[in-house]
Amino acid sequence: MRESLGALNALYPSLTVLAGAVVNGRENFITIAHVGILNHGKTPYISVSIAKEHHTTKGIHAHRAFSVNIPGENLVAETDYCGLVSGKTSDKAALFDIFYGETDFAPMIRQCPVCMECRLHSVIDLNSHDVFVGEVVRTHANPDVLTNGKVDITKLRPLLFDMASKKYWSIGQPVADCWSIGKTIKDRT
Ligand SMILES: Cc1cc2nc3c(=O)[nH]c(=O)nc-3n(C[C@H](O)[C@H](O)[C@H](O)COP(=O)(O)O)c2cc1C
Repeated sequence: MRESLGALNALYPSLTVLAGAVVNGRENFITIAHVGILNHGKTPYISVSIAKEHHTTKGIHAHRAFSVNIPGENLVAETDYCGLVSGKTSDKAALFDIFYGETDFAPMIRQCPVCMECRLHSVIDLNSHDVFVGEVVRTHANPDVLTNGKVDITKLRPLLFDMASKKYWSIGQPVADCWSIGKTIKDRT
C-alpha cells in the first residue's frame, strides 16, 4: 500500500545557496533552494530556478551572468534574511563583503566558503519561473574548507533545505563509498 501525494515535488533535501546578480546597478543576493547540478565535467553547468517577479531575475536577464554562493551553517540567519526580503526594497548586499572574479556582473560573497561565478548559458521559461542555466566560469574556495585541494563538505557544512519541515538541516554521517559499495552486489550476480 502506497499513499498518493499527487503531483508533489519530493526532491528534497536540496542545497541552500545565495545567488548573486547586479540589478539596476546594485548587487543583490537571493536565497535559492531550487538549484541543480546539470553535469560534472570540464565545462560544468548548474541551474537556479527563480520566480519571474523576483528582483534578481531582472539582473540575470540584463547582464547574462550570476553567481552561486554556498553559505555555511554560521550564515543561516543571513541566508534566511535574503529569502525573506526583496532587493526591490532592501539593500541585502550591505550584509556581505563582495568580490568579483573574471565575470562581470557576477558578484560573490566573501563570507561564503565556496563561490561560483557563472555565465548565463540559457533560460528555460516555466511560466512562473525562469530556470537559469549557468556555465561555471570559475569556482573560488576558502582554503579552510578544503582537504587535499577538494571541497570537504564536513568543513563546508552547507545548509540543506527541506520543504516539508520548512527547516534548514545539516549534513550527517557518510553511509558508504560511491562506485564501491555496489560491488558487493555486482560480485555475487
Ligand atoms: C530557504 C528559501 C529558499 C528559497 N528558494 C527559492 C527558489 O529556489 N526560487 C525562488 O524563486 N525563490 C526562492 N525563495 C524566495 C526568495 O529567496 C525570496 O522571495 C527573495 O526575497 C527574493 O529576493 P529578490 O526579490 O531580491 O530577488 C526562497 C526563500 C527561502 C527562505
